[in-house]
Amino acid sequence: MAADTEVVRRFLDRAVPPENLSSAQRQKLESEILALMEAKNARLVAHYYTDGLLQDLAEKSGGFVGDSLEMARFGHECDADILIVAGVRFMGESAKILSPDKTVLMPTLEATCSLDIACPIERFGPFCDQHPDRTVVVYANTSAAVKARSDWVVTSSIALDVVEHLMDEGKKVLWAPDKHLGDFIRRKTGADMLLWDAACIVHEEFKARGLEQMRQVYPDAAVLAHPESPAAVLELADVVGSTTQIINAAVNLPNNDIIVATDQGIFHRLQQQAPDKNFIIAPTAGNDATCRSCANCPWMAMNSLQALLQSLQQESNEIEVAAQVAEQAMIPLRRMLEFAAKNQLSVRGKA
Ligand code: 13P
Ligand code: SF4
Repeated sequence: MAADTEVVRRFLDRAVPPENLSSAQRQKLESEILALMEAKNARLVAHYYTDGLLQDLAEKSGGFVGDSLEMARFGHECDADILIVAGVRFMGESAKILSPDKTVLMPTLEATCSLDIACPIERFGPFCDQHPDRTVVVYANTSAAVKARSDWVVTSSIALDVVEHLMDEGKKVLWAPDKHLGDFIRRKTGADMLLWDAACIVHEEFKARGLEQMRQVYPDAAVLAHPESPAAVLELADVVGSTTQIINAAVNLPNNDIIVATDQGIFHRLQQQAPDKNFIIAPTAGNDATCRSCANCPWMAMNSLQALLQSLQQESNEIEVAAQVAEQAMIPLRRMLEFAAKNQLSVRGKA
């Protein structure tokens, strides 16, 4: 893992956050983008962790804001010629694999994910080869090549259901790359799972001790956590789920105070959906805090209106996936979407 940490650090050093905009600059950018999207039959698909301006623009323009499963589904089903994916690279790749005939653009191609970096196909392929008796289940936060080597792709909203299904079929699982999500599923289901060793640099920083102390300050608060958080944090959570599942829980729970252990970008939607509630970010600081990324994914933050306009004007930052890899990766990705549809896992209603 030491080598991975070094690689992640190199990527982080390149992650330059966008500049602040005046309201006139923002309006000008937005109207240029809207006009171009209309002229080019383009749709914007944004993740909840991206800048609120991008999320609002996606909504306003007939695009979509959601968790990674919903983003993949929307991209696959919509009839645009161009999809602009505001998020991180694996989301753009999933969109391209599922819709090979669409042009898929991203505001930046530099936006990656620590889980993707820590699971290169050169090491993952041989690891799978060593365990031919196991069904290979990979998290969506992986490269197209890793997906192509898998039997199933899952996102956090559907991972537990898929592993339960495989258990019912008597299968043993090889899981990659997020060890915390893998461990959470293993503890929940009792499935026989061999775990790859990688973590999200954002969620790994949440601290259980600080969370316990915070709960004493807010005794009536509900704790909502993304399953990429460490086990000690998940143990303290009332609800563990994907970004959409967290939003649903925040809206539906009676609690007024809500402590949230995930990227702060989600607060934009949380505040829109439940404006009267008090949202508090779970603590990341502590004696061993090392974060440059405290509850703030540096790669998600690279998406900006300026970069989006440029990519749309020039049709630059296009996602390309080699045909053979895409063909292979489409099988487990489609399997995920079909499983969700068949089991009516409407992620919106499942928190
Ligand atoms: P969701 O699938 O919950 O949107 O999560 C994606 C992600 O990258 C979380 O860090
Ligand atoms: Fe990857 Fe973590 Fe960023 Fe999600 S928050 S994209 S898992 S680094």
